[in-house]
Order: sequence, then C-alpha cells, then structure tokens
Amino acid sequence: MYDYYLGGKDNFPADREAAERALSVFPNARVAARQNREFMIRATRYLAGEVGIRQFLGIGTGIPTSPNLHEVAQSIVPDARVVYADNDPIMPA
Ligand SMILES: C[S@@+](CC[C@H](N)C(=O)[O-])C[C@H]1O[C@@H](n2cnc3c(N)ncnc32)[C@H](O)[C@@H]1O
Repeated sequence: MYDYYLGGKDNFPADREAAERALSVFPNARVAARQNREFMIRATRYLAGEVGIRQFLGIGTGIPTSPNLHEVAQSIVPDARVVYADNDPIMPA
C-alpha cells in the first residue's frame, strides 16, 4: 500500500484495492506517505551534510523506492555506510 501511495511499481492488486479503500476514509494517506518519505530525505541530508554522520541504520526499510537512504547519504558522503533492517522477508528479496 505504501509503495502504491508513493507511485511505485512493487505492489499487488490486493494492495491497490486496500489502499484505495483506506483513501476513502483517510484521503490524506497518499500525501502522508510522500511527506514521510520527504522527511527521511531531509533528515538524511541534514545528518550527513551538517552533522557529519557517516553511518546510518534504516529500521523498517520497506520496499526500495528511489532515492533510498543510501543514495541520499552517499550523494553527500560517498563512503557513508548504510545498513537496512526490516522484519518482512520480502524486503531483502
Ligand atoms: C512504511 S514502510 C517503509 C517506510 C520507509 N522507511 C520510508 O521512510 O519510506 C514500514 C516498514 O517497517 C517494517 N517494520 C514494521 N515493524 C518492524 C519491526 N518491528 N522491525 C523491523 N521492521 C519493521 C515493515 O515491514 C515495513 O517494511
């Protein structure tokens, strides 16, 4: 559903159907998902560029959606180290 809200391609018909049903009672769901993603990008840029953080742990990574955490961090600090963690086995696949 989150991938669908972000305009991604990695979602199933059941995801899209459930996402549309959720939108009927929470019309801002798509905006919320996109704003959540934008926050991750802003926070990573700030931490890498202003604070000097070189190692990142993404907890609850989700389905890859560009730009991902490592792309944002490494666009500022090319040798930044990133570890992703998610308890859904489909994520590493
Ligand atoms: C909304 S999605 C991904 C959001 C993504 N981090 C972003 O900022 O766009 C949330 C993810 O958290 C994962 N998750 C939920 N509970 C978790 C837990 N206890 N440990 C690890 N991952 C978890 C889910 O499997 C899902 O992939």
